[in-house]
Amino acid sequence: MKPVKVGVLGLGTVGGGTVNVLKRNAQEISRRAGREIMITHASARDLTRERICDTQGITLSTDPYEIINDPEIEIVLELMGGTDLAKELVLQAIANGKHIVTANKALIALHGNEIFAAASKANVMVAYEAAVAGGIPIIKTIREGLSGNQVNWLAGIINGTGNFILTEMRDKGRDFADVLTEAQALGYAEADPTFDVEGIDAGHKLMILASIAFGIPLQFENVYTEGITKITRADVEYAGELGYRIKHLGIARKTANGIELRVHPTLIPERRLIANVDGVMNAILVQADAVGPTLYYGAGAGSEATASAVIADVVDVVRALALDAQNRVPYLGFQESEINNLPI
Ligand code: HSE
Repeated sequence: MKPVKVGVLGLGTVGGGTVNVLKRNAQEISRRAGREIMITHASARDLTRERICDTQGITLSTDPYEIINDPEIEIVLELMGGTDLAKELVLQAIANGKHIVTANKALIALHGNEIFAAASKANVMVAYEAAVAGGIPIIKTIREGLSGNQVNWLAGIINGTGNFILTEMRDKGRDFADVLTEAQALGYAEADPTFDVEGIDAGHKLMILASIAFGIPLQFENVYTEGITKITRADVEYAGELGYRIKHLGIARKTANGIELRVHPTLIPERRLIANVDGVMNAILVQADAVGPTLYYGAGAGSEATASAVIADVVDVVRALALDAQNRVPYLGFQESEINNLPI
């Protein structure tokens, strides 16, 4: 069978990591997908910049339209971030019949309803596992692994940068600003790090998780968001003296009046597992009616951890390409039929 040709928009931390992991594990990945997967094209704003990946064999361009208009490319990886240009490119790629894999939580949280509707109309798949909790396969888990359950609530540490900052403040007495600079250097933080520290990034991710867990449409404006910028070293120390840890949580809960969605710092007793999730690690606790509580833990940010989720989506899309179009979408997109408009 012919290899599947993939084009990548964005060769930064996640795009570069995806190229690296796809090259390193090419054999296993192709075996699991049932077809060889080839990144043939990639676009980046500045081609002179030093890259974390080897781009040999990949046609590079500064023009993303060369990828989305290329008839040979079947899957487009949107790994550039931002919402305006990313939305325009994704909608155009969908209109051109391309399947989309994205790590862009802001794009999905803010424009997902429109993107999924366009994808459904064009019979293409949109997969976004990497948008939430880096390498933890939490979207697949809720949608597929817990599909026999009613989710009662979920709560998680879903911003790696924020958790890294709180951990370093507590363990090493470091300053907020100093740790944030390190998180940026390590490729954990968003291009605009206020998204991390003001709870916006966690809010985007919570909205996406809740849409899948509760079958509600994406409506980010209804998420209460509070960040960690007001937390001081003294707060972290006093919490410790009282036997608590300060953790920034995203919480989605079914109530008699609808779904409650909020992200904010919380005090968690030290003996709880989630209180011991440190550094860039994320963890999500899901309480569901049949299985009870389950906890998912792993790297919430970083080049190859996020690439792991991107590639898993690529493999899913390639496998689904072998199915009739009607049978594909339920496993990858968020369909209108899943939306039951529970009020938030
Ligand atoms: N800035 C994000 C974080 C990246 O720190 O969690 C992963 O989504």
